[in-house]
Amino acid sequence: MKKFVGRPVRAYAPATIGNFAAGFDVLGAAIRPVNGDLWGDIVEIRPVEGIKCHSSLTVEGPFGHLVPADRTNLVLVSHALFQRKMRLKGRKSEPVTFTLYKNLPLCSGLGSSASSVVATLRALNLYYGCPLNDGELLQLAGRAEGAICGAAHLDNVAPALLGGLRLIAPGGIPQLEQAVSLPFFDHWRIVVVHPNLSLSTRKSRQVLPSSIRLVDAVEYWQNLASFVHAMHSADKNLAAITLRDLMIEGYRRRLIRGFSQVKAAALKAGAIGCSLSGSGPSIFAVTESDAAARRVKIAMTDAFKIRGVGSDAHICVLDPDGAREA
Ligand code: HSE
Repeated sequence: MKKFVGRPVRAYAPATIGNFAAGFDVLGAAIRPVNGDLWGDIVEIRPVEGIKCHSSLTVEGPFGHLVPADRTNLVLVSHALFQRKMRLKGRKSEPVTFTLYKNLPLCSGLGSSASSVVATLRALNLYYGCPLNDGELLQLAGRAEGAICGAAHLDNVAPALLGGLRLIAPGGIPQLEQAVSLPFFDHWRIVVVHPNLSLSTRKSRQVLPSSIRLVDAVEYWQNLASFVHAMHSADKNLAAITLRDLMIEGYRRRLIRGFSQVKAAALKAGAIGCSLSGSGPSIFAVTESDAAARRVKIAMTDAFKIRGVGSDAHICVLDPDGAREA
């Protein structure tokens, strides 16, 4: 059979905010800086040169030195999943040369793993002329996320792949229809502050209880259902009231130095809601204007500074596109 040689491709997958405050493991938003910059990992694929018969990986970018370039790297883990799927479809895949530009900090709550996984899958799919559909890519991404975090939640990989604010509907094996797109407010700005702290999703999940009281569950699903209703009915008052985490944040807040002060500062400066981004330590706040976002950004970074924690912050909007050729 003739060797397949694709054209070189680069794919980008955006940073994401898991949970989006109101929906633990079932809501997630893809974001991009309001200034138009890309904020996410990029994966480049080229055909292997010469007679090499195995794939190789080079890691670059500001956080590249923190990830191994061996077979435990998420790029190669995702590649192995993609190859298996190709085999099941009767398609052959060839060794390729990968470059990962690791632009998102690790253990940050910004969907860093999801970004690497999804950028790899999107790049591979482009390289081979799109043999897999987005539903199949979502399945593979969910499987990779499960292997990384010990739980196959889709609230980072679904928005990273598909863009927008996604509600994860019930289901076993991930299907495209499960990643429901919710409407969003165009005027919302999302201030994301990443402190110089590291917190793994695994550790952040370990502090959560295995069961909860019925009364707390009722309050939680009442809030989540009302938030989803508010987004569909464009009820910005109800959305602002329900943009909150009534349960999970309470267990995790003590893992992040300065969380309470940063949240209080954001709300005082005009944010309509503020919570952990994914499993933390990043914190996000939503505002209703650019001017409020600028005030909130300064208030949050100052509050971290007072607690002796350095941070960097971005003012973002929703990224409606998700993973794409870069
Ligand atoms: N939903 C996951 C969690 C997101 O909160 O543990 C991890 O980023």
